[in-house]
Amino acid sequence: MTVSEGDKTQIKSKERVAERGEVFTAEREVNAMCDLVANECLRPDSRFLEPACGDGNFLAVILKRKLTELRRKYKKSPRDYEKQAIVAIGSLYGVDIMNDNVIACRERLYKIWDKEYTSHCKAEASDETREAVKFIISRNIINGNALTLMCVDAEGKDTSAPIVFSEWTLISGTQMQRSDYTMSDLLLYNDTSAENGMGNLFALTEEQKEEGGVFLRRYITHYKKVQDYGE
Ligand SMILES: C[S@@+](CC[C@H](N)C(=O)[O-])C[C@H]1O[C@@H](n2cnc3c(N)ncnc32)[C@H](O)[C@@H]1O
Repeated sequence: MTVSEGDKTQIKSKERVAERGEVFTAEREVNAMCDLVANECLRPDSRFLEPACGDGNFLAVILKRKLTELRRKYKKSPRDYEKQAIVAIGSLYGVDIMNDNVIACRERLYKIWDKEYTSHCKAEASDETREAVKFIISRNIINGNALTLMCVDAEGKDTSAPIVFSEWTLISGTQMQRSDYTMSDLLLYNDTSAENGMGNLFALTEEQKEEGGVFLRRYITHYKKVQDYGE
């Protein structure tokens, strides 16, 4: 059984439809599309980008599927569940030009994540981990323009800051590596020749990552402390 969020409307206002093409996809269609890549939706580390994410209809369904699978897999091991649940949330990326959608998307993903985490890990659930997850979500769900690949201001106008995505990788035990790349570099190097037609967001070779300053920032720390290194 997956987490239910109740019914949602597909349109907020006529103005928003006209201005931004904002029509939300119904959960039935989202599920049908996710079924096309059903196995990818179960793996905690398979990465998804919703480039005009709204409040995250696709990301929410994928997150619920991943967490349901983790709960099944790590029924008796809350500690392993916790680590993999962090990997799962770190694998989901979204961009939207409307600030209220970005805020709604972040809150929605956090709520889904925390509900599952709290119910599965019970007394072993910690606020430190919750803070790490909030930080990861704040970096992964970006207020930006997916066409110009730039961050936007409160009015939806491009700023001078490029959209930057962080790659979160559990490298050993409890150590997590964060590596930042601009979205434009990721698209430049993206491999769209994969068999299922989906590119891999961080499909860069180690040489490409090292050469010409493609990655902007990298650090390794305990997965509960990712936020300690700041923005
Ligand atoms: C058709 S809705 C889809 C929302 C969601 N992906 C879904 O399927 O329910 C389109 C979304 O794209 C956003 N949008 C429009 N232009 C954009 C742009 N240039 N960059 C990023 N987001 C944009 C709108 O704010 C809106 O949330």
